[in-house]
Amino acid sequence: MLIAIDGPAASGKGTLARRLAAHYGLCHLDTGLTFRAVGAALLAAHRALDDEAAAVAVAEQLDLASLDRERLNRHGIGEAASRVAVMPDLRSALVSRQRAFAHTGAGAVLDGRDIGTVVLPDAAAKLFVTADPATRARRRAAEIRSRGGTARDADILADLSRRDRRDAERAVAPLKPAPDAYLLDTTGMDIETAFRSAVDIVDQARDERA
Ligand code: DC
Repeated sequence: MLIAIDGPAASGKGTLARRLAAHYGLCHLDTGLTFRAVGAALLAAHRALDDEAAAVAVAEQLDLASLDRERLNRHGIGEAASRVAVMPDLRSALVSRQRAFAHTGAGAVLDGRDIGTVVLPDAAAKLFVTADPATRARRRAAEIRSRGGTARDADILADLSRRDRRDAERAVAPLKPAPDAYLLDTTGMDIETAFRSAVDIVDQARDERA
């Protein structure tokens, strides 16, 4: 069983994807981490974020099973990830790695921006998870503060809006719902409610295909 979860930055799709994977006993890949790992590696090597040859070389060496979520999920790395993500050859290199990961076991949950449209167009269930921008910014700022950092909701909102615009407007594999994706707006929902809704959607999609 393959489950595709897409949505804009800080929509809660990662938490939902992890919980769904645990619920159905599937592997999980946060594909945002693959772009973040490439962006972080280019920054560390003092390479330009549009150096596509260097980016592809990093992508080919990545160990998808041991991406350091704690380190890569830092807010600043999101911007570098979004910038490298516009490069077509890098996307092809990562997409083939992501597909290989998805097809190794009995099934998987992948979350990102183009999972339902490009990476796994035949997924058994597709969700597009959103929440209004102010809610997403508030959640992300609270998460940063809970780890001891400092963050103003307004600054985070500006960062997320800039990133969403770039992700939605790029030429290759832009952020958008697949035509057959179920929209899940989590504004005003707590994580438990969002999770129960996601399980209902996946069960229903599975039944419809059976
Ligand atoms: O999900 P995230 O915020 O960790 O993703 C970071 C960036 O990586 C995002 O702004 C755009 C890029 N990305 C992408 O282009 N395609 C994906 N499937 C996942 C992430």
